[in-house]
Amino acid sequence: MQLSSLPMEEGNEPTVKTRPTQSRVARQRLLRLLVPFLLLCVAISFISLYMIRYFGVQTTLPTALASFQTCVNVEERNKLDLEHWIRPPSNLLHNMTDTQLLWRASFVPQIKEYPFARVPKIAFMFLTKGPLPLAPLWERFFKGHEGLYSIYIHALPSFQADFPSSSVFYRKQIPSQLTEWGTMSMCDAERRLLANALLDISNERFVLVSESCIPIYKFNIVYPYLTKSNHSFMGVFDDPGPFGRGRYSYNMAPEVNIAEWRKGSQWFEINRKVATYIAEDTKFYPKFLEFCRPACYVDEHYFPTMLTIQAGDLLANRSITWVDWSRGGPHPGTFGKADITEEFLKRLLEGETCLYNNQTSSVCFLFARKFAPSALEPLLLVAPKYFGY
Ligand SMILES: *[C@@H]1O[C@H](CO)[C@@H](O)[C@H](O)[C@H]1NC(C)=O
Ligand SMILES: *[C@@H]1O[C@H](CO)[C@@H](O)[C@H](O)[C@H]1NC(C)=O
Ligand SMILES: *[C@@H]1O[C@H](CO)[C@@H](O)[C@H](O)[C@H]1NC(C)=O
Ligand SMILES: *[C@@H]1O[C@H](CO)[C@@H](O)[C@H](O)[C@H]1NC(C)=O
Repeated sequence: MQLSSLPMEEGNEPTVKTRPTQSRVARQRLLRLLVPFLLLCVAISFISLYMIRYFGVQTTLPTALASFQTCVNVEERNKLDLEHWIRPPSNLLHNMTDTQLLWRASFVPQIKEYPFARVPKIAFMFLTKGPLPLAPLWERFFKGHEGLYSIYIHALPSFQADFPSSSVFYRKQIPSQLTEWGTMSMCDAERRLLANALLDISNERFVLVSESCIPIYKFNIVYPYLTKSNHSFMGVFDDPGPFGRGRYSYNMAPEVNIAEWRKGSQWFEINRKVATYIAEDTKFYPKFLEFCRPACYVDEHYFPTMLTIQAGDLLANRSITWVDWSRGGPHPGTFGKADITEEFLKRLLEGETCLYNNQTSSVCFLFARKFAPSALEPLLLVAPKYFGY
């Protein structure tokens, strides 16, 4: 049968023509084999049940079970295991549409205690164009911490990654779509990342990073800092000026009132509950889609505003990602090879205090941006001393 689907030489054509008859015969033969087998299964089941009822359970149970197992599809049976519900998807390249994915991601268990030993993981979500020039730094950061993190990459749909199978980034791309800064497509990409990460029930914290971000502390500091935090790190503020409240549209009421309008940084770090609020939102999304268009940059307002309304007390109202606005202009500073000096690193790591779980802390940022590819080499050199990895 297999051979007939291979390309044929001309003389072999009659074989192809006889195919339908052949397969019909084969099907009949298969049926003739299957029917007695099924009857046998049913008979064994009945006999087992009969024996259980009349001769006691102990001796016949194994036989009954064995015959039951041959009749039930093995795969169906696996789906009834707890494992089926808690195992992360083995392949990130699923076929779900965004609507299907967000619906699936909005599933939340109603019993808060997990009936298994759940080790919370941090989901690192890379929102990128494609290549990750700073990957060697991240590889070093993740090394030795398998099982405590997961990775998701949203890239241009056309991007073909070539990470070796030894890389932590190997096969970590999710089905992606084109995104454009300042439009809803950017928030869509972030929701897509969150929704994919939510499919793994062990993911508890969700960090959004870009290809120009780096970690500025070692994993052993980042992990407890995030998993023990009572708050989600979303930079949120009320800007009364033209670039803040000035972008609000009164068409958004009553879902969003001007006093609730917020602005914030796109680079967030949130917990599972807040991530679910974002994935399941159907209340605020249509309002922002319709009434927050450039010069209202929706990626600066949608999440900060809707989360302040829905879950304000869960937010730290500060970002965990350091960025330099001191050079002015619409874009933050980018740092290259020449910028990686001792003075710069001290500025990055020191001289700031913030609240962490309602206590004063000198560790306020765990990640930093933006770094050019040329910064990789000097960063790799200073990372052991300054970042601890
Ligand atoms: C998705 O669909 C394509 C074509 O329809 C198929 O080749 C592929 O195997 C599917 N992938 C999964 C993960 O189901
Ligand atoms: C963040 O702001 C909200 C109000 O918008 C507030 O309820 C919450 O307590 C603030 N978070 C912290 C850590 O102060
Ligand atoms: C953090 O949350 C836990 C559990 O909800 C609570 O017991 C603890 O007091 C909180 N800590 C602070 C500093 O708010
Ligand atoms: C936070 O700290 C302040 C003063 O240090 C205290 O009044 C307040 O009750 C604390 N809040 C929580 C939630 O523990």
